[in-house]
Amino acid sequence: MTDIRLENLSRSFGATRAVDGLTAAFGAGRFVALMGPSGCGKTTLLRLIAGLERPDAGRLWLGRDEVAGPTVFVPPERRRLGMVFQSYALWPTMTVAGNVGFGLNRLPRAERDARVADALRLVGLHDHGSRRPHELSGGQRQRVALARSLAARPRILLLDEPLANLDAHLRHAMLAEFRRIHAATGCTMVFVTHDQNEAMAVADTVAVMDHGRLEQIGAPGELYDRPRTPMVARFVGQGRTLPVEVTGRTPDGLCTLRLGAATLALPGDAPPGPGWLCLHARDLTPDAGGLPARIAGVRFEDGYLLADVLLDDLPGGAPLSLRLDRPGAVGEALPVRIRGGWVLPREGQGVAPVPGGGSAQDAAGPVSPASRHTELAPSTPRP
Ligand SMILES: Nc1ncnc2c1ncn2[C@@H]1O[C@H](COP(=O)(O)OP(=O)(O)OP(=O)(O)O)[C@@H](O)[C@H]1O
Ligand SMILES: [Mg+2]
Repeated sequence: MTDIRLENLSRSFGATRAVDGLTAAFGAGRFVALMGPSGCGKTTLLRLIAGLERPDAGRLWLGRDEVAGPTVFVPPERRRLGMVFQSYALWPTMTVAGNVGFGLNRLPRAERDARVADALRLVGLHDHGSRRPHELSGGQRQRVALARSLAARPRILLLDEPLANLDAHLRHAMLAEFRRIHAATGCTMVFVTHDQNEAMAVADTVAVMDHGRLEQIGAPGELYDRPRTPMVARFVGQGRTLPVEVTGRTPDGLCTLRLGAATLALPGDAPPGPGWLCLHARDLTPDAGGLPARIAGVRFEDGYLLADVLLDDLPGGAPLSLRLDRPGAVGEALPVRIRGGWVLPREGQGVAPVPGGGSAQDAAGPVSPASRHTELAPSTPRP
């Protein structure tokens, strides 16, 4: 198992700082989902890790090997990692087995055949080696691309929106496949996705990027429950942030705050002064004795009726979403109770320090052997 460490890693294209002084660590054997708005630098970060881009500054380690730095640059073919892209680029005239073994022509024939068979078995396509790509479904083609990466026995697998071309059903099946392969190979996997449900469902670690920087790395629930920046709060789970005034702390450590005329005590990490209250739909409930609010919109989502409401006290503010237990109409009064959330200092007020000296760390560190899933089959040694 191999960890990935970046120190002040930067890559610009002209005036665009695609990756901007990143310091971070992804623990060995982790399954990391990398998320962030379009253009925030996700692909550039993967390409830097893969060696398809050279950093302008900073250093990068894969396990104990420094692979990029002021005086080193290890080319991609010597980094022992695999990369799968959204467009899986199979050779149409070659068989499935030919595609999977394509990068292995320096190996003896028997060894190559064994690796191809192993990789096809891992992705559940061992019966399809003699087919051609056009005889496969989209999901099967994606699995061939995955098998091609796995056949090289990478220590790290980088996946750049590998599911973007598949329909919802296939995406779901492929996600389960990724999780199974992750468990079977122990490979450190970094996977870029635009789909948060996808990220939260499969990854053990989620990393959120914005403007070339890593905003936060943590377990999926952690980003939801304890966002470290307002960007993470808004990005993850369609969260909302409300401007509040933090007034102090209760003896049991809750932040006390003023929201319009109301006084609340909620968990958070903010000193007295201007703050953000970060809320998700689950933090709010209709309550006749709650804060006065009015319905601005009603929608049906994932089997639930959701309302967007505007607090009377914050007329120009962003609408808050909450689940309705009965139909509601636009304009109707719907008082709400805030029963959870997370309080942050306002931007420019100093964000809570990141453990590990100002860097985004995969806080839980390497996965301990006991918490790892299945070991790789003995016939498939890892590099
Ligand atoms: N080869 C390049 N030449 C010039 N600009 C580039 C190049 N590659 C990336 N960029 C710019 O760098 C920034 C980051 O791009 P990148 O592809 O890493 O974003 P991304 O997070 O992968 O976005 P998306 O989610 O849309 O794939 C963007 O502003 C992009 O236009
Ligand atoms: Mg991209």
